[in-house]
Amino acid sequence: MNVTVHVELGARSYPIHIAPGLLQQTERITAALGGRHVLLLSDANVAPLHAPAVRRALSRHRWSETVLPPGEGEKNLDRFGEVVRALAELGASRDATLIALGGGVIGDLGGFAAACWMRGIRLVQMPTTLLAMVDSSVGGKTAIDLPQGKNLVGAFHQPSAVLIDTDTLATLPDRELRAGLAEVVKYGAILDADFFAWLERHAEDLLAREPAALVEAIERSCRHKAAVVARDETEQGERALLNFGHTFGHALEAEQAFAGLRHGEAVAIGMVRAAWLSARLGLSADADTLRLVRLLQRLGLPTAPPPGLDPVRLLARMRLDKKNLSGALRLILWRGIGQAEIAEGVEEGQVLKAWSAAL
Ligand SMILES: NC(=O)c1ccc[n+]([C@@H]2O[C@H](COP(=O)([O-])OP(=O)(O)OC[C@H]3O[C@@H](n4cnc5c(N)ncnc54)[C@H](O)[C@@H]3O)[C@@H](O)[C@H]2O)c1
Repeated sequence: MNVTVHVELGARSYPIHIAPGLLQQTERITAALGGRHVLLLSDANVAPLHAPAVRRALSRHRWSETVLPPGEGEKNLDRFGEVVRALAELGASRDATLIALGGGVIGDLGGFAAACWMRGIRLVQMPTTLLAMVDSSVGGKTAIDLPQGKNLVGAFHQPSAVLIDTDTLATLPDRELRAGLAEVVKYGAILDADFFAWLERHAEDLLAREPAALVEAIERSCRHKAAVVARDETEQGERALLNFGHTFGHALEAEQAFAGLRHGEAVAIGMVRAAWLSARLGLSADADTLRLVRLLQRLGLPTAPPPGLDPVRLLARMRLDKKNLSGALRLILWRGIGQAEIAEGVEEGQVLKAWSAAL
């Protein structure tokens, strides 16, 4: 169950290694490092569980460790300052490595610090949530949040390597595992009907954390992400397809001040709203929407927005989405299982109906 997926970006190409017990393989870790200096960044949930293996691999380096409190609220300017100050105290030179050991919060924040320190040092992503394994650790998007909005300050900075130890998922809370599965379903829904059907056959194995099923789901998701990123690194076109369900989902997250639904849960609901709208516009069949809803439900994910939210406010949130250009709504619509498209100038009235029909 040792798998490597390559992200082909010329001189900035990198491997994604996927295997149970990978962090116990010291030589895998040392091979990914650059010069003498290493900063190990993690959070207070992950470090006690998974940092000891990484520390053992650093004995021949000059290294230090920064452990932040967990949670999206820490992906901020103050914590960014803390990380770059830690690099300064370490005396990190241009060939230093920052290891981001944790979920997407640590990966995004650590990635942004690595992008900025001396205009860019080596970054090794060691994702420990399913969401980070299949999505945020691959592709080079890094960012921090401001009080005004999520991911507003950031940079593209590709990692030098991604080391996915699927054994780390054993300690992940159920809700976080399910949230990651929403992003896995997304790849099948928009790019790969075979993978979607495979997920329908293996939903229970994934929920039971069956190792071979997890490795296969992660590998297939990473292959899709790697291929899309290789063709469209900075989201000039095709990469936007990966935002299927996200504009609807972000509106839900923002309405709940990012303290309600997990990101993956909001994406699950968002995908269903996008599918509903696509069927209404004649782009996809209701039978496909039903299959999507059934799979998400079997994976323990929500498929309808929480009651009490206001469709007009949700629409207003969608107008503020970063993906919109010059005020027109830009959405990813569905062509049925395995296919999606970017739709410019979607009528607001239709989007409002997509919300009202579910609330
Ligand atoms: N850069 C990108 O392309 C991209 C893509 C998607 C999401 N994101 C970002 O990712 C973030 C969300 O990431 P996330 O869902 O991984 O959240 P997270 O980093 O907050 O992790 C979720 C929770 O799980 C805990 N945890 C992590 N690994 C664990 C483990 N193995 N065992 C026990 N507990 C563990 C964390 O401490 C945290 O409490 C958001 O900030 C989002 O904007 C970025």
